[in-house]
Amino acid sequence: MTYETVAEVDPAVADALEGERRRQNETLSMIASENHVSEAVMEAQSSELTNNYAEGYPGERYYAGCEHADEVEELAIERAKELWGAEHVNVQPHSGSQANMSVYLATLEPGDKILSLDLTHGGHLSHGHPANFAGKTYEVEQYEVDEETGYIDYEGLAEKAEEFEPDIVVSGYSAYPREVEWERVQDIAESVDAYHLADIAHITGLVAAGVHESPVGVADFVTGSTHKTIRAGRGGIVMCDEEHADDIDAAVFPGAQGGPAMHNIAGKAVGFGEALSPEFEAYAEQTVANAKALAEQLQDHGFSLVSGGTDNHLLLVDLRPSHPDTPGKDVESALESAGIVLNANTVPGETRSAFNPSGVRIGTPGVTTRGFTESTCREVADLIARVVDDPHDEETVSAVAARVDELTDEYGLYE
Ligand SMILES: Cc1ncc(COP(=O)(O)O)c(C=O)c1O
Repeated sequence: MTYETVAEVDPAVADALEGERRRQNETLSMIASENHVSEAVMEAQSSELTNNYAEGYPGERYYAGCEHADEVEELAIERAKELWGAEHVNVQPHSGSQANMSVYLATLEPGDKILSLDLTHGGHLSHGHPANFAGKTYEVEQYEVDEETGYIDYEGLAEKAEEFEPDIVVSGYSAYPREVEWERVQDIAESVDAYHLADIAHITGLVAAGVHESPVGVADFVTGSTHKTIRAGRGGIVMCDEEHADDIDAAVFPGAQGGPAMHNIAGKAVGFGEALSPEFEAYAEQTVANAKALAEQLQDHGFSLVSGGTDNHLLLVDLRPSHPDTPGKDVESALESAGIVLNANTVPGETRSAFNPSGVRIGTPGVTTRGFTESTCREVADLIARVVDDPHDEETVSAVAARVDELTDEYGLYE
């Protein structure tokens, strides 16, 4: 994809776009929520559908001129149903957060109660943080992971549910490296007569490929992002049984949104089509194998991982035991200078601040898209360890950056 036309019309924006392509090509994106979509997905996202107003749903639009929008949305829906096995899918949410908002709008009244995982333990803002609309609109109580094991404290969750009597229990997380026991959460939700929302934003692709157990058919509602472990471009999705279909559709539009971003829905359709291929299953398996290899090698270097490892595409390093004087932001910034891009993250029992926390989160979806395997990921762990051991040493950072250059040349991304 080139930006020749943008360059003619608007050189400043073209420069920034070219710069971003270069940045993605020349660095390793190890931000667990990021990935690299195909040229086909990007082409679909930049189609004329960006001009189209398609309020409503296929066959029932509020505007004329929607026959091709209908085709694209129907394709996205059918492919999503095949990928996740849901009875009903809404592909219109602009983001994972708006998918969650739609579930709340469909099930709760202002002042109703949400029980969700604490943000510093791996939860997400849209699960009821005070700064988010969910926290401002509903009463929120939070459960935690067991700080000793790093696993969800399901017993604590059951106790909180009994005491708090939530209207909805939220599972599915932003920084949780382990399989989630969906049925256990469902049983807890049912025991207090609450709905269960499983937010698989991070693991949408792993679930589609059968690499992580699926909450579809277990939880009442399943939401996801379409740009993390599945490479379908930025957006969200909601899945549910037929009995909740009308409520969810009304909550997405007109409840939470106006017209759908049809160009992004075209991107979703293409990305979902790609994910139905056997290659995608292999990709998802490799993503997890890579995360496990990275985890083991980091542990060999003396790093402490929350929960002692990973079952999915991400790992959470608690820097305190191995590098007590090195906060997450220092690691994030030194590694970025070396071309390895990840994010500082809070860890359970956080003792620093949310802005400069004690951990880093590392993900393998992006590097796996580039073609990395276990051996490359072990080498990346070695490079990370070198920088974290000496984050302010320019020679070390330059030496690691030089090796990252070689790796990004060998495992190319965009033309
Ligand atoms: C668990 C979870 N839910 C929802 C979201 C929100 O997704 P979006 O950024 O598309 O709003 C995220 C984003 O990282 C997430 O981790």
